[in-house]
This record gives sequence, structure tokens and C-alpha cells, in this order.
Amino acid sequence: MTGAPTAGRTPGPAAVLCGLGGWLPPKVVTNEELVARLDTSDEWIRTRTGIRQRHVIEPGMSTGSLAVEAGARALKSAQQDSVGAVVLATTTPDRPCPATAPEVAARLGLAGVPAFDIGAVCAGFVYALATGAGLIATGTADDVLVIGADAYSTLLDPEDRTTGPIFGDGAGAVVLRRGEPDEPGALGGFDLGTDGHLSDLIEVPAGGSRQRGSGVPAGPRDHYFAMQGKQVFRHAVLRMTGSVHKAVGRAGWTVAGIDRLAAHQANSRILDALTDQLELPRERALSNIDRVGNTAAASVPLLLADSVNEGSLRAGHSVVLTSFGGGLAWGSTTLRWPQLDAV
Ligand code: COA
Repeated sequence: MTGAPTAGRTPGPAAVLCGLGGWLPPKVVTNEELVARLDTSDEWIRTRTGIRQRHVIEPGMSTGSLAVEAGARALKSAQQDSVGAVVLATTTPDRPCPATAPEVAARLGLAGVPAFDIGAVCAGFVYALATGAGLIATGTADDVLVIGADAYSTLLDPEDRTTGPIFGDGAGAVVLRRGEPDEPGALGGFDLGTDGHLSDLIEVPAGGSRQRGSGVPAGPRDHYFAMQGKQVFRHAVLRMTGSVHKAVGRAGWTVAGIDRLAAHQANSRILDALTDQLELPRERALSNIDRVGNTAAASVPLLLADSVNEGSLRAGHSVVLTSFGGGLAWGSTTLRWPQLDAV
């Protein structure tokens, strides 16, 4: 047998991160506003999740419009006005059909390039990064705009206090370009995995072919997002811990040598448990969850943009990106942070 790539090693040229942008819709919903309509309290939400507020879209906006804003900022940060492909991670597409990415690409002046959606729920951005790196490695594109955008506010049951406080809307994006593996910004190998035996832990039961094909109409709450929080919490810590170890090993790094952990922002207690499991000082974990909540596929790139803007993530830092979500799906990768401006 010839030509089998070594597990975890990216064959061919490296994908180098060279642009970054994030965008949040202007409307903020504070915990106090949720308390007015749900049986909850600011104290419960802050102490159990670490969230103080979240941003939500307003009428006339959608996942696509969030993606366009973040994508434009990433292109500006990369000082580029074109790329060879657009990959959009989302599970709240503008419509069930077609994919949202082609319209996003067209609105960014990129009509003509390959553009498609990736669905891996909250792990989606790392999957989209791996896909973008693959497009570069195969010579399909020299540079790729990778966007994570979600509007979970459109999926939430207005009467469910267990999901309402957690999610927010937003988008983040990066530009990847062809480069050398030892350059700052070059992505290391990826660790990606799923466990579909546990797909019911996070779901929107209705709207897909299973429900439509059954001929049985959806129940009144079946179009809403549902999750089994406690089990999801446990798996999030377990899977991200294992995935960080694998990604770090593939990079030839040690966990102790991680300067910044950019983990999916699901719950501040998940972040604390993850850093404890990794035996990393908690201050090495980047965090913006208090201001944005869980923004699903947007979480990791928004976190990167916020952290660069506030100065907690700087050129030269060894960074691990890790994410986890419905599927179950998880993924991680590594990079030495490059010199760049977020916008
Ligand atoms: N306000 C007040 N009380 C609430 C509440 C809210 N918003 N939500 C749940 N509760 C109550 C429960 O009803 C329960 O009450 P009981 O003890 O009387 O039965 C109590 O708080 C504890 O509930 P529990 O579900 O055990 O809380 P928890 O500590 O596990 O926190 C989550 C709940 C959802 C915050 C937590 O499980 C979590 O963050 N899970 C992961 C979610 C996630 O990341 N999802 C996306 C994956 S990417």
C-alpha cells in the first residue's frame, strides 16, 4: 500500500491563518431581561453558566447576514478582497435548501468560487478549518475564507429555561492561505471525532427527512432545540480533554506548553473543568462567554477575535483550538499565533 497519509499529519502545503474577524448583532439580551419571562434568576445563570448577556438577531437579519459581516472583517484583516473558496460552518442556515455559503460568497463579491456549508453543530468551525486546510493541501484553492456563524435564538423554545439563557447569536471568520508548516499561523494536524450513538443528546427533532418522511406531523415543540444538559456537560469535558491531548501530541507539543486554550464557549464551568483536567492554569483559557454566551459554530473564531482585540492573545503564543457539540462531534488543532489585526 502506498500513499497513505500518516494520521494527524497534513500532507502537502500548510494552511496558514492570515486574517480574522468577528461580528455580533447589536441587540443585547441581559439576564435581567430573561428573568422577566422565564422562571430563572441572574444569580443562577451567572453561577451555573458564567453568562451575563448574549447578542441576538433582529427581524431582517439571519445567519447569512452575520456571516457576511464577519467574513468582510476577516478579508479586511488579511488585506485581501478575494479568496479561492468559502466554507461556512452553521446549523442554523438561512433556509433548509440551498446552502447559505454561496449567497454569503456572492454578497462578499466572491461569486464563482466554491462555497458550501459544514454542519457539525458547535464543533463546526474546527471541522470547517480542517476542510479549508484540505482545499489548500489538494491545490483546490490557494486561500479560503472559513466562517462560523449561527443564530440559535431562532431555534430556542421561548418557554425553556434550560436552553434560553445559554445561547447567543454571532459570527467569526478567518482567512487561510497556502504556506509553510513552520510559519507562524500554520495549522498543525487536526484531531476530529464523533459519537453518533449519542446523537439524541442535542437535537432539533423536527424539520428533517426523518420527521417529514414519517408522515406524522411535528409536535408543537419539536422544531425547538433540545439538549440533555448534564450529560452534554460531562461529554464536553471528556471529549475536549482527549482531543486537546491528541492535537498537542500531533504538533509535538506538551499540554503544559500551551500558552492559550481557545475552547468552545459553552459554559464557564465546562472551561474550568477542562483546564483542570488538562492541569493547565485556568488563566490560560481564553474566555468571552460572559458577554456572548454559546454562539455555536461562531464560538471559537469570535473568541479569537475578542481575545486579539483585548490583548489576551498575542503573536507567538502557542494556541490550541478545541470544540465540542451535537453529533456528538469534537475537534482540535494547534497553531503558533501570527502577527495580525482582528477587526
Ligand atoms: N434557572 C433556574 N434553575 C434552573 C435553570 C434556570 N435557567 N435551568 C435549570 N434549572 C434547575 C433545574 O430544574 C434543576 O432543578 P432541580 O434540582 O430542582 O431539579 C437545577 O437547576 C439543576 O439543573 P441541572 O440541569 O442539573 O443544572 P446544571 O448544573 O447541569 O446546569 C446547564 C444546566 C444546562 C447549564 C449545564 O448542564 C450545561 O451547561 N450543560 C452543557 C450545555 C451545553 O454546553 N450545550 C451545548 C453543547 S455545545
